[in-house]
Amino acid sequence: MRLRIAAGNWKMNMDYDEGRELAHAIIKETKPQPGTLTILGTPYIHLKDMVEMAGRNSEVKIAAQNCHQEASGAFTGEISVGMLTSIGVEYVILGHSERRQYFRESNELLSKKADAAIKGGMKPIFCCGEALEIRNEGWHERYVKNQLVKGIFHLEKDDFLKVIIAYEPIWAIGTGVTASPEQAQEMHRMIRLAIAERYDEATAEQTTILYGGSVKPGNARELFAQPDVDGGLVGGASLKAESFLPIIEALSQSRV
Ligand code: 13P
Repeated sequence: MRLRIAAGNWKMNMDYDEGRELAHAIIKETKPQPGTLTILGTPYIHLKDMVEMAGRNSEVKIAAQNCHQEASGAFTGEISVGMLTSIGVEYVILGHSERRQYFRESNELLSKKADAAIKGGMKPIFCCGEALEIRNEGWHERYVKNQLVKGIFHLEKDDFLKVIIAYEPIWAIGTGVTASPEQAQEMHRMIRLAIAERYDEATAEQTTILYGGSVKPGNARELFAQPDVDGGLVGGASLKAESFLPIIEALSQSRV
């Protein structure tokens, strides 16, 4: 049975005190549920504290929102995998559409970041997803598959099994427009089939594929009930315990 995950992506939100308060509220209320995990993707200033706070709750893990592809060097403002693992961070979000768009991260660059993360012992949460024009033009499946082929399908099977995929249609991020459960399922199925084609059936069945894009307490259960949707990567609704905790709860209630 593959792992089901409720992951929060705080993006560039939460100052030091706000972050501690939010993490505390989430960690203290997150109850052990076999086969499920909560991940908090926080800004760098929080990571060390969060690892320590979560340490007491093995259901909660911490993710960085980016890493550099090189191990060290003259890359002002960047952070390396070794730095993240030195404080116990296990996960890293890679290829979020905001990084692809605002920081010009290409599939080629992301494949190097995925290599660096895995080589350093981290588990990437690899994001993919199409813009609205691409969906309207009808080639969203091809577009997303290409992101996977270029970004992570070069990995050997043992390494690929460390990757979590997050399908996040750009038109649903921060817009309040969610993909319908059917649209999410259709894309997740396509992704799983692509994994089976590249690797094998067993690898595809083991891979956790998250949906992201306006996940809220009101729609989480229906989305997570889809057979190929293994949880969510949540932006806005992860910034408040009142909205993130019901999403974590929806994950266990919607177990298929
Ligand atoms: P929202 O949940 O705010 O739409 O953001 C989704 C997202 O980008 C998570 O990475």
